[in-house]
Amino acid sequence: MPLLGMLPAIRRDPAGVFMRAARQFGDVVYLKIGPRRGYLITNPEDIRHVLQDNARNYHKSPLYGKLRMYLGNGLLTSEDQLWLRQRRIAQPAFHRQRMAALAGVMADAARDAAARWQSLASGGQPVDVDEEMMRLTRTVVVRALLGADLGPFTSKIDQAWTTINQHIGESFWSLGFTDRLPTPKYRRFQAALAVLRGAVDHVIAERRRGAADSGDLLSMMMSARDEETGEAMNDEQLRVEVTTFLLAGQETTSLALTWTWYLLSQHPGAQRRLEDEIDVVLNGRPPEYSDLVNLPYLRMVIDEAMRLYPPAWGFSRQALADDRLGGFRLPRGWLAFVIPYVLHRLPAFWPDPEAFDPERFSPERSADRPKFVYIPFGAGPRQCIGNQFALIETQLSVATFAQLYRLHLAPGHKVEPWPLITLRPRFGMPMTIERRTRSLPRLEPASR
Ligand code: HEM
Repeated sequence: MPLLGMLPAIRRDPAGVFMRAARQFGDVVYLKIGPRRGYLITNPEDIRHVLQDNARNYHKSPLYGKLRMYLGNGLLTSEDQLWLRQRRIAQPAFHRQRMAALAGVMADAARDAAARWQSLASGGQPVDVDEEMMRLTRTVVVRALLGADLGPFTSKIDQAWTTINQHIGESFWSLGFTDRLPTPKYRRFQAALAVLRGAVDHVIAERRRGAADSGDLLSMMMSARDEETGEAMNDEQLRVEVTTFLLAGQETTSLALTWTWYLLSQHPGAQRRLEDEIDVVLNGRPPEYSDLVNLPYLRMVIDEAMRLYPPAWGFSRQALADDRLGGFRLPRGWLAFVIPYVLHRLPAFWPDPEAFDPERFSPERSADRPKFVYIPFGAGPRQCIGNQFALIETQLSVATFAQLYRLHLAPGHKVEPWPLITLRPRFGMPMTIERRTRSLPRLEPASR
């Protein structure tokens, strides 16, 4: 379109537009999106160049400005010195040994939820698995990283996230003129932001009251001192980082789980194989961190679910200086779009790309695949800090539920990916819960 370029089409169907562009035009596709220009890149070498080898030449694109504007300038959105300092502060909380300890919190939370599902299973009514998984991953992130609960905000926070995700996700592609008009929708968004702010303030206030240093992420952020000035993180920065971890830690992991349940429900063969693996390895006892190495199919199922439905479906960078991509000049200020949703479906690397086939991730079949065509967690210095955390949590959760239950999509329900900031199911994921008979359940709620 004149002036607007591809903006109207992208607003309607962002993932579809990127898919078709890559299929039709190949490795490097010129895009004009409103006032912005850039390339969609799908060659693994170019992706490596932008995200890793020449990462210094790129900042997160102005599209992240919307996140920054509403949620603040935290680890996900900041750049340069501020980013480096915040990343260094947070990194030890995600250390491998620490993850092993946090796995206990994850397993407990999954067992609590599984125990709650007993009555839902006997009721026979569809349950929105999307909401259930949000609740689970929120509990985990809040307990494991922030050592708290959200107090009076607990019941409101998931709906608040949905509203925030939708507003920011849709406004990503707007020119910004209409984002702040005082419509009822915008007022709902403001109310959702107030809930979020309340929840974050509650977490920080609780910790200040308790004052004990529990060695978790929140303690690390509160006790960190700037190397040069000796100053602590100010209240506003702390608030922004807590918000960042709440958002980044809950939403994406929850979606990885929801899409996994959907795909398993559509592929009974894979579901049975997963159940067999879990039954043989666990022999009826609840899964623990140390079991995960013995559950390779479980990991393949999760990897394949994140291939087809990457929760962080697309991201972008802005060039600080001229660069070259795939033989083309990328002028300073232009954008590079990296879209896992597209990369994970490139027929050159993924035969029959739309098929759900966890075996693609077997060591033999993965051996020759370039690293940069599968990047659900991004890559390079800005790679997801919660990568291992999320993988352990999804594996423990799927193992816990699949040992006890089988989920069936509500008949006739339409499932459609909805690419907002994250890739959600547009109409939720109502599923019925069937108790498995072969399992040897231990359904007492976990001890906490
Ligand atoms: C399946 C779950 C998850 C997925 C798919 C995911 C995906 C991603 C991706 C793609 C990025 C990079 C974005 C970019 O390069 O522009 C990212 C960054 C980040 N993620 Fe995750 N993430 C997940 C879970 C988590 C968890 C559990 C946490 C925290 C507990 C977390 C915290 C973060 C943070 C703080 C960043 C910014 C890191 C930085 O820039 O230094 N994520 N995530």
